[in-house]
Amino acid sequence: MNEDAMDEEEILLKLKEYKSNDLSYSSGRILGSMCSGTSSFAKKVYLDFLDSNLGDPGLFKGTKSLENQVIKEIASFLSLENPYGNVVTGGTEANLMAMRSAINTAKLRGIIEKNHEGEVIVPKSAHFSFNKSSDMLGFKLIEADLDEEYKVDISSVKELITQKTVAIVGIAGTTELGMIDPIEDLSKIAIENNNHPDIQESIYLHVDAAFGGFSIPFLRELGYDLPNFDFEYPAVTSMTIDPHKMGMAPIPAGCIIYREKKYLDAIAIKSPYLTSKEQYTIVGTRLGAPSAATWAVMQEMGKNGYIELANNCFVNAHFLANALKKENFKLVTKPQLNLVAFNHEKIETNELARLLEERGWIVSISSCPKAIRIVLMPHIKHTHLVSFLRDLREIKTSLGY
Ligand SMILES: Cc1ncc(COP(=O)(O)O)c(C=O)c1O
Repeated sequence: MNEDAMDEEEILLKLKEYKSNDLSYSSGRILGSMCSGTSSFAKKVYLDFLDSNLGDPGLFKGTKSLENQVIKEIASFLSLENPYGNVVTGGTEANLMAMRSAINTAKLRGIIEKNHEGEVIVPKSAHFSFNKSSDMLGFKLIEADLDEEYKVDISSVKELITQKTVAIVGIAGTTELGMIDPIEDLSKIAIENNNHPDIQESIYLHVDAAFGGFSIPFLRELGYDLPNFDFEYPAVTSMTIDPHKMGMAPIPAGCIIYREKKYLDAIAIKSPYLTSKEQYTIVGTRLGAPSAATWAVMQEMGKNGYIELANNCFVNAHFLANALKKENFKLVTKPQLNLVAFNHEKIETNELARLLEERGWIVSISSCPKAIRIVLMPHIKHTHLVSFLRDLREIKTSLGY
């Protein structure tokens, strides 16, 4: 640390130097991220709420109302009128809160005893946040198979249900391929396979819509043939949905939404010295700026803004998928959302990613199956795709294919 105070201008200069090593979304070169930057208006709002602490909500009642309104407005397009939940740091924390609630609910229902390991069934395509949750909460993660379209195989889930099952997870927009699991079927089996005759409720069903939650409802409204995935289905107990992905909010902003208050109560911890006597979230001191900025960006966009955004990304995904097919690249599966994964039968995937990076394109690689994975987020425009495809063609030709 420097002995004396450094001049502000000097500090800013140094910061600029560091920042020059960051990539920017607006370059269109970030092709594998599920975040996309935010509006300058949302940034202004964010700064204005930097001091508000939702860990002590009685001091920041206005910001707390904004958090509640964000949850309420999001739930309104997820078929839930009276939601309970929080704006948290992202999908990881939201999934962790859901799993905590599922475990504690199972304890309350007598399905598992204290220190007794429960089981959570997740699709093989689940985000690694469920591995983190399993590690932290000590439940056993049971992976269900996928069908030929990389959606969870319902019969596999059914076979895996045991007396120790505390939750089933479905995904609306998988991380690697953007696929939507059949939530309606999961809801049915969660109801039909409750192995405990003395318990009325279904098995806890959590839907991870971190990625798809802010686009599927709007694409459906436009008439695209996509399945519903939300609280319309009675076993759906909680949902993760991330404003900092397709919601255009600044990071960190994820939401956990519960169908009933009892699922939030299941994770309440006493917080005696604070203005609220109970806390549900994992973190204590909690920035209010993401709630305020998410609320602001939702007002700024409006439903029609989200419809347009989701549609543009979807159209770009289909443009890319069709162009790749024409160039003899093989799609892993027909894209359901704004995510395209592909391979070339003669070019090794890591090598292709490396060659693209040499030309300034940062792609990511999916693992199941291994493929180049492009997330068509709002910062990727048609013109970026045209130059990406040109580079891809040149790489292919230079390798003699
Ligand atoms: C489906 C899904 N769930 C959860 C997460 C975790 O979200 P975060 O990185 O915001 O914690 C991701 C991240 O990509 C995701 O795709």
